[in-house]
Amino acid sequence: MTDTSLRRLRYAMVGGGRDAFIGAVHRKAIALDGQAELVAGALSSSAQKARASGCDLGLADARNHGDWRALLDDELKRPPHERIDFVSIVTPNHMHFPVAQAFVEAGFHVVCDKPLVHTRAQAEALVEAVARRGTVFGVTYNYTGYPMVRQAREMVRSGALGELRKIVVEYNQGWLATRLEGEGNKQAAWRSDPAQSGAAGAIGDIGSHAENLVATVTGLAIESLCADLNSLPGRPLDDDASLLLRFEGGARGVLVASQISTGLENDLRLRISGALGTLEWHQERPSELTHLPHDGPKRVYTRGTPWLCESARRASRLPSGHPEGFIEAFANVYGGVIADIRATQSGVPADPLAADYPRVEDGARGVRFIERTVASARSEVKWTAW
Ligand SMILES: NC(=O)c1ccc[n+]([C@@H]2O[C@H](COP(=O)([O-])OP(=O)(O)OC[C@H]3O[C@@H](n4cnc5c(N)ncnc54)[C@H](O)[C@@H]3O)[C@@H](O)[C@H]2O)c1
Repeated sequence: MTDTSLRRLRYAMVGGGRDAFIGAVHRKAIALDGQAELVAGALSSSAQKARASGCDLGLADARNHGDWRALLDDELKRPPHERIDFVSIVTPNHMHFPVAQAFVEAGFHVVCDKPLVHTRAQAEALVEAVARRGTVFGVTYNYTGYPMVRQAREMVRSGALGELRKIVVEYNQGWLATRLEGEGNKQAAWRSDPAQSGAAGAIGDIGSHAENLVATVTGLAIESLCADLNSLPGRPLDDDASLLLRFEGGARGVLVASQISTGLENDLRLRISGALGTLEWHQERPSELTHLPHDGPKRVYTRGTPWLCESARRASRLPSGHPEGFIEAFANVYGGVIADIRATQSGVPADPLAADYPRVEDGARGVRFIERTVASARSEVKWTAW
């Protein structure tokens, strides 16, 4: 076993070239804690743009590839002291499966953005491969990295809300309220193309975050769902989703995912009500968690304060009142993955509080959620079995 506890890990990135959105966020999040450095990449779908993007980031020529297969081949030839510890996959959705599968099969640890893959069969194959190869696999459901989301999870687990009865989660955006995909916006273009996005639009792009947030905080499993999907004329994938949810144990829920909600930015909100009270969290005010007990006054918990649970305290870098946000939450997911990679490489069990991140199984459940939602929306039957 190699003890990696004293050195920076090495990573490669697939996707995330010039003009890409989320790859740069991943790099900034990883850089925040100085635990890993970018040493290789295949950063774009065009070989020329991939290399130009790698030059911008200071990659050595020999590790700046025009194609992800060349990156993988090159890494496999390198001695262990040069080889990457993990790869981050930040391409459009259709490339997640081939790239993730190949790197896992080659024994590399992987971080992949959501939605994990296109189909349930691909998701199951990936879960199986990760188990067989014993690799670490993180999925960047980054909202789970917010300290106040971790506080909410702890309060639900400790029974502060009593038996859960009602969950309302909404992720509303307005940026696809016009046909941007026809106006040269490449993020809108691939998201509206079934070949690249998969069988779903908004429900895969942001509904998957909402599903994961509910599952992470409540621990409840969806038993059945009833979905209505809609889209602007001429757009082949949904841009607006409304779902009713039934959870095992009897709780009920509502999930809304919309990208045509004009004026709204990244309006992700979660409300969980139990027999003893309600918790509310809003992504655009991420440092606050409101607790509304049934029998007492409302209380607002804030990030960075000493009365939070340990996992929420550990997820914070600054004293209370100094704003932290999206990149820090992303960095917390990476912190969990890196802790798990270090533990795996040194052969010791990971500290569960440190290795706190969404796994390949969470990504696979998200794929099933998307598949079931699309099936429900196409069906005339009111309730679709999970
Ligand atoms: N976790 C989040 O909050 C979050 C936010 C946005 C996007 N995402 C996910 O991240 C992924 C990327 O989304 P984006 O908005 O950054 O897209 P984007 O279009 O901005 O960037 C995609 C990048 O991947 C590259 N690419 C495409 N095919 C490639 C290939 N075969 N090899 C190498 N690179 C390739 C493109 O050239 C581009 O650089 C998607 O899966 C999306 O769902 C997650």
